[in-house]
Amino acid sequence: MKIFVDTPEKIAAAVAQEYVALLAEKPDAVLGFATGSTPLGLYAELARLCAEKRISFRDVSTFNLDEYLGLDGTHDQSYRYFMNKNLFEKIDIDIARTRVPSGVNTDPETAARYDKDIESAGGIELQLLGLGNNGHIGFNEPGTPFGSVTHIVELTDSTRQANKRFFNSIDEVPTHSVTMGIKTVMNARRIILIALGKGKADIVKKFIQGDVTPEVPASVLQLHPFAEVYLDFEAASLL
Ligand code: GLP
Repeated sequence: MKIFVDTPEKIAAAVAQEYVALLAEKPDAVLGFATGSTPLGLYAELARLCAEKRISFRDVSTFNLDEYLGLDGTHDQSYRYFMNKNLFEKIDIDIARTRVPSGVNTDPETAARYDKDIESAGGIELQLLGLGNNGHIGFNEPGTPFGSVTHIVELTDSTRQANKRFFNSIDEVPTHSVTMGIKTVMNARRIILIALGKGKADIVKKFIQGDVTPEVPASVLQLHPFAEVYLDFEAASLL
């Protein structure tokens, strides 16, 4: 893993330039996107660059990591809604080529078909990741097997507590989600994980310097040949 440490603003700008370079070389790349507060700075920067015609997503296809079970794309806490509002509506992408796992009418078989769709599209060139407080990537909670493909998961209490800030109350936070598996993520040819803030410092240390173990899902990235980790000074403070 390559580690970069900087301010959140410089990280957003630097990672955005990675997308500029990638799409200059491969305008029809398949991109894996993530939700959460962490990528918001990057998405704003990509939107700005697109408005200035310094990057184009015209021929890009995308696959998002995960979605809450039970929320359809019109729900303002669904990840489909999040992506539309924070990125897709602000860039020149063809919305028909953007995929987010469906939060409705999803069973284990339809979930696993997401992996086949990624494969048919040619595989993900660059997968973006955030980091859960417990080390989850996507919604792969501690204990998820490294061989997992897109599947339905029961969210841990800690994840529901962490995400309740976006809902009116804890009761409204879905109990399940559908997420790319660890293997789905690891199949991406290149991975960029961003972690920001003091709250992530402990888990950042664990996943980078600790053992590779399903108990810390992000630790699997130590095994990926092209994984890059961007940390702000706070998130990197215990390394
Ligand atoms: C959610 C998402 C993850 C994300 C994590 C961290 O649980 N499923 O993909 O990485 O939250 O969120 P944040 O970036 O807001 O810290």
